[in-house]
Amino acid sequence: MQLCWLLLAVAALLMPITSNAFNILFMGPFPAPSHWMWLEHFLRELLQRGHHVTAVTNHRAKYQHENLTEIIIDPPFDIPYYFPKENIFKMRFASDFQNLQMWWHVGLLTTEHALNDPKVKSLIASKNLDFDLMVMEQFFHESFLMFAHKFKCPIATLGTMGYADNMDHTMGLLTPWAVIPHLLLSHTDQMSFTQRAYNTYLSLYDAVMRRWYYMPKMQEMAERHFSGLIEGPLPHVRQLEKNISLMLINSHRSLDVPRPSMPGLINVGGIHIKTPKPLPQDLQNYLDNSTHGVVYFSLGSYMKSIDMPKEKINLILSAFSQLKQDVLWKFENSSVGHLPPNVKIQSWLPQNDILAHPNVKVFITHGGIFGTQEGIHWGVPMLSIPLYGDQHRNTIKSVRAGYARTLNFGTMSSEDLVQNIKLLISDPSYKQKALDASRKFRDNPLHPLDEATFWMEYIARHKGAPHLKSYGAYMPLYQYLLLDVFGCALLVVILAFWLPLKVLRLLGRLLQRKGAEVSRKKRQ
Ligand SMILES: *[C@@H]1O[C@H](CO)[C@@H](O)[C@H](O)[C@H]1NC(C)=O
Ligand SMILES: *[C@@H]1O[C@H](CO)[C@@H](O)[C@H](O)[C@H]1NC(C)=O
Ligand SMILES: *[C@@H]1O[C@H](CO)[C@@H](O)[C@H](O)[C@H]1NC(C)=O
Ligand SMILES: *[C@@H]1O[C@H](CO)[C@@H](O)[C@H](O)[C@H]1NC(C)=O
Repeated sequence: MQLCWLLLAVAALLMPITSNAFNILFMGPFPAPSHWMWLEHFLRELLQRGHHVTAVTNHRAKYQHENLTEIIIDPPFDIPYYFPKENIFKMRFASDFQNLQMWWHVGLLTTEHALNDPKVKSLIASKNLDFDLMVMEQFFHESFLMFAHKFKCPIATLGTMGYADNMDHTMGLLTPWAVIPHLLLSHTDQMSFTQRAYNTYLSLYDAVMRRWYYMPKMQEMAERHFSGLIEGPLPHVRQLEKNISLMLINSHRSLDVPRPSMPGLINVGGIHIKTPKPLPQDLQNYLDNSTHGVVYFSLGSYMKSIDMPKEKINLILSAFSQLKQDVLWKFENSSVGHLPPNVKIQSWLPQNDILAHPNVKVFITHGGIFGTQEGIHWGVPMLSIPLYGDQHRNTIKSVRAGYARTLNFGTMSSEDLVQNIKLLISDPSYKQKALDASRKFRDNPLHPLDEATFWMEYIARHKGAPHLKSYGAYMPLYQYLLLDVFGCALLVVILAFWLPLKVLRLLGRLLQRKGAEVSRKKRQ
């Protein structure tokens, strides 16, 4: 096993020299900035290895590269118009079913928006383009798989949120619901009867609704945008899904439950975390000089602190003023009002580099998956205040693992904040658990980004590498579950026992009748 990894590492190092450059189509139609920030790490790495990349995205790159062609979706999808931010701050915990429906809804809206962009339309109609590989975010944009059919190229997908059952299915595995909680659930693999029942219900609901409600809509959309523009009949997106060669998934063995896998499913959790860059001098001084350490507070890239209700901002400031620690707050403009002397705000902060500083005592986060992974990587205890989506799930997992505490944004008070921050600093078990999680999270045979890139190039080199998935992907369910075999066996058993029994009974009856006849004759 170790030798195998060593070879992989050596191969990955040699690759830029020995492999030729590929033409890669990179699809990031989902508009949320945090998703693109994650995807961009893959994109930049592919460019650095000399490949040519055509990227469909909502976000223009902050750098120039001669081998990058950008197709910017313009105007970008207006997320706050469809999902007003005020509502998110007021939102209570949505049910898992509502969350699922929300993802489908968001997926359908953003995919339609992206496909309607004139530049994307001309990509659909293009005649002379050629790609060796399509890389795409796997986040409710299945219509986009039609591009891989158009360009006749293999597909690698990037699973931002972690594993979903449908990823197993397209690789030829049936997810064992007894030990694998649904994507939206935070259970462990030791579920009680009720948890297993609920997990089965939710997973079944997901599978059925996806198959009969969501995917037909994706198909209809794909047909509306692609028909007439590609030669030959259009395949079903469900077929194309089975054609996905490789899935790189934001999951890590130290954080998620163990699950059965296929060679084409690769965990790449942590790809976005790199060796820290030097901090700007003022921040470096601030962190170095802080006597009691620094509390770092950020709600991530989408939800901005300026959008918070005024009374929450005041409540938070009042809490911070009671701390002896210094506070570094990602706050987007100067409208915050009077700041206590120990609070410093800045509209943008290099989160990864800050968390890497040993003087950071607590990370106050919204529990987004990327930030949570950064907190874990650098071993910083977290105060998680989840708002929507997968943030509740991530938070519950962090709290259970013992390196985080949580608060409800809607009901928290100044005292709650102060108390929780103080506890996270004064009780050494939080730091210990955080360091322990950090050691496990960083203990990888190879940086996850190098591993991810190796596999993407592998798929391009081997024209799809169909040997990475099981034939189970193409089998009807009754065959996969061996219902035909068991049915046949049952038939044999029935025939073996029931038939002789029946024959014996018939014989018995015949003999009886014979006997009766004989005795009648005797009496006569
Ligand atoms: C761009 O691609 C060309 C041809 O494949 C390659 O020679 C060149 O080094 C690439 N440029 C960069 C900056 O990687
Ligand atoms: C499936 O992928 C292969 C390349 O990996 C491609 O040649 C083939 O056309 C694809 N199938 C469909 C239906 O697009
Ligand atoms: C902080 O420390 C640096 C050296 O690390 C020093 O140059 C600077 O003056 C200090 N600033 C304050 C405000 O104490
Ligand atoms: C700060 O942001 C708020 C909300 O977006 C805005 O109303 C206000 O004008 C901004 N203030 C400054 C000084 O930019």
